Amino acid sequence: MSGDSRGAMVIGGASGIGLASARVLAAEGYRVIIADINEGAARSAAEGIDGEVSAIGMDVTDEASVEGGLSAAHGVHTVVNCAGMSIPGVITELALADWRTTLDVCLTGMFLVLKHAGRHVADGGSIVCIASLNGRQAGAGMASYCAAKAGVLMLVQVAALELADRGVRVNAISPGLVDTPLVAGISLVPGLTEEYLENTPLGRSGRPEEIADAVAFLASDRAAWMTGAAIDLNGGAHLRRYPDIPARVKSMAENADRA
Ligand SMILES: NC(=O)c1ccc[n+]([C@@H]2O[C@H](COP(=O)([O-])OP(=O)(O)OC[C@H]3O[C@@H](n4cnc5c(N)ncnc54)[C@H](O)[C@@H]3O)[C@@H](O)[C@H]2O)c1
Repeated sequence: MSGDSRGAMVIGGASGIGLASARVLAAEGYRVIIADINEGAARSAAEGIDGEVSAIGMDVTDEASVEGGLSAAHGVHTVVNCAGMSIPGVITELALADWRTTLDVCLTGMFLVLKHAGRHVADGGSIVCIASLNGRQAGAGMASYCAAKAGVLMLVQVAALELADRGVRVNAISPGLVDTPLVAGISLVPGLTEEYLENTPLGRSGRPEEIADAVAFLASDRAAWMTGAAIDLNGGAHLRRYPDIPARVKSMAENADRA
């Protein structure tokens, strides 16, 4: 990448937190590449953002795909990885394939992004990894996601150590409940959103733009002395407890049986 403006790649940038991050980075003058497994959505997203924004297909679970996208962007200043998903289930009922799918996207995908971003990001660049409140706060029914995100927080620290000699900073953001398509299902379980909010001292969910502002900060020189860190961005939810999702789902099923 060359030219006056800095380049940024936002992986998982077609929706939610990634899309908001692409918007904020483009507004700050970055040339942005949106990479997503949903290439069509990535293209539509890019077309909808003012500035120099392009799109590519990328599957973070496929090393050739990650390597191809990042090597083509060699010299990019900032790489943000927002790709994620979750298959819930209590441990005693969780299918091995579902455990593996979540680990593959959230943890192995982050490893592959760090591996190839670590090779191709510019000296003095920034890598921002979206972790989760669940990387430090256990949630019943969330074993694979919690384990994957806890792993992400440690991977970020190891990568920060290993890439510091090139001046590359690696940081994480751990969002709490943010209104995106990923968590749309929560509102279908009676009482669950309320339980989230009761356990959030600031009393509301987050907006994707609030995470994107932290992404832009970590990308910028204002965070020039920050690496190996994780920002809790959750309205204070890490200070209380995680909702009891299996109990809420059980009571919903019992009510449906009675009806
Ligand atoms: N929304 C929340 O409440 C919340 C809370 C904590 C952490 N997070 C994390 O934030 C990140 C973004 O989530 P979001 O809420 O914006 O979700 P989202 O579903 O709106 O966006 C996720 C994006 O990742 C893409 N993606 C999924 N699998 C991929 C793969 N294998 N390769 C490439 N792209 C892939 C999807 O196509 C989608 O565009 C995720 O890592 C998620 O775990 C979200």
